Parts: sequence; C-alpha cells; structure tokens
Amino acid sequence: KKVKLKVPATVANLVCGFDILGMAIHEPYDEMELKILESPEIIIKHKDHFDLPEEPSKNVAGVVLLKIQERLNLKKGFEVIIHKNIKPGSGLGSSAASAAGAVMGANILLGNIFTKEELVHFAMFGEELASGVKHADNIAPCIFGGITLVKSSNPVDIVPLNSPDLFVTAVHPQVEVKTSDARQILKKNILLKDAIEQWGNIAGLVAGIQKNDFALIGRSLNDVIVEPIRSILIPKFDEIKEKSLNIGALGGGISGSGPSIFMLSEKEETAKNIAQLMKSIYDEMEIESFVYVSKIN
Ligand code: HSE
Repeated sequence: KKVKLKVPATVANLVCGFDILGMAIHEPYDEMELKILESPEIIIKHKDHFDLPEEPSKNVAGVVLLKIQERLNLKKGFEVIIHKNIKPGSGLGSSAASAAGAVMGANILLGNIFTKEELVHFAMFGEELASGVKHADNIAPCIFGGITLVKSSNPVDIVPLNSPDLFVTAVHPQVEVKTSDARQILKKNILLKDAIEQWGNIAGLVAGIQKNDFALIGRSLNDVIVEPIRSILIPKFDEIKEKSLNIGALGGGISGSGPSIFMLSEKEETAKNIAQLMKSIYDEMEIESFVYVSKIN
C-alpha cells in the first residue's frame, strides 16, 4: 500500500495570533509518498538538496511516525519519500508540513483510525524536535486546511475558520532566523495595556475572517507584542510592510517566526505588485529572495 500527498506551506500567527492562528496556502507545497512496511523500521528518504537528517529520531517525519508506532504498539513500519519545496527555516511551515504529511499519510495507510485532533497531537512532536516547543499553529491549518484557531494545544482543540477569498504574497529572504532563537528573544512578561490591544486585534481578526469583512481584517493585522521584537531580525521589514500597505495590501507581517514576510490583498494584481516590490527591495540589498503569490488553501 502506498499514498501520495501534497502538503501545503502555512503562515503561522497571522500577525497578532502568536501560537494560535495559522493559514494554509496553495504554494509552495511538499510532495510526500508513504508506504507501509511489514517490518517495524522507519525509512526516510529526501528527494531534495536540503541535507535534512534522515535518521528517524532526528527527522520530524520520523519522530511522529515513531510516536504512532509506540501508541499502537505497531509491528509494521513506514517508508517515507519527501520532495521538499517548502524551504527549511523559511517561516513557511516546512517542519510542520513534514510532520503533518507523515501523520496524514500514516493514518490513511492504517485505515483512518485517528481524528484530525489526534493527528495534530502526534504532529506536534515534530515541531518539538524542530523548534523545542509543541506549537500547533502551522500543523493545524496543514491538517485541517484553510485558516484555523488553536483554541488549545493541550488538550488539542482546533476551530477551523472561514477562508476569505484573499491573495497571499510571501517573500523569503535568504537570511537565517531559527524559530528557537526567534522564541528565545521574546519577553516573558507583557503589560496589561499591550495584552488588551492584542486581544482586540485577535478578536477583530477572527470576526473579520468569519464575516468576510476585509477592512476589519486589515485593521486587525497588528501585533504590539511579538513583531516589534522579531522584526529587528528581518532586513527591510518596516520598509516592505509600509510600502506594501501603500500599494494596496490589506495588512500582513512576519510569517511564523520569520524570516518570511506575508501580505494579504483583495486583488491578484495588487498581490503581484507586492511580490515585485519585495523582490526589488531585496535585490537592491543583494539578498537572494523567493516570492510566492498564492491563495488561502
Ligand atoms: N508560532 C510559532 C512562532 C510559529 O511564532 O514561534 C513558528 O513557525
């Protein structure tokens, strides 16, 4: 038995919803093939040039499959072939895609025995390996599709939201920002006045998403807690954000823990203009960058 999957990139946080909001996008995506093996071994093979570890205990797809084996006391194994297009370390949910793809593929091969929440539970072990923290804001949209709210990650409680008809522009500049470092620099305590502003933004964003109220989405895409600290790690962040808003973006910010930046737009033309703007700003700095114009998946 064999399954083939397309596993989408994801944008976590959606600016104000640190660790709780995320969305799946059409491009880029990974392709994964899984096969069940009669012996209990787990074999990981990468068909790309990213040089990711293939030893199961050190590979995000491998660790989640080890957890499934352990839970089921399974005497069978899996072979996983990963064609990775979502660049590791981009902030576009590369580790989440490998983990989510592995659990979704294994679940199909095992006869759909797990709920989506259980799949999120298993896949979070991959995020723990990748970043040191079991966050579900990339995993959940990867498994459920569209935009999701992680109401709680322990126990797993995922609320799938509406998917507004919006375009997503994302740019990945080739600078290194490790999720673990980007979490380390965050403040452990926040001011109540900042929390209140952030609650307003998150509630406004969720209401805007549910009501297809694009103006409300736009004015809720603000982050007074995480972005001011993390944006320092991303060259030209403020300029890209300001200029994107000037040419018609609804709003946007850091994708996950960065370094990618994303912007939402109502029109495809605006999304493409933003892609050009992003690319030209990084070209001018001689920083290599990859841009994607996509839709919410
Ligand atoms: N919510 C996580 C973070 C996403 O911002 O650290 C990491 O991809």
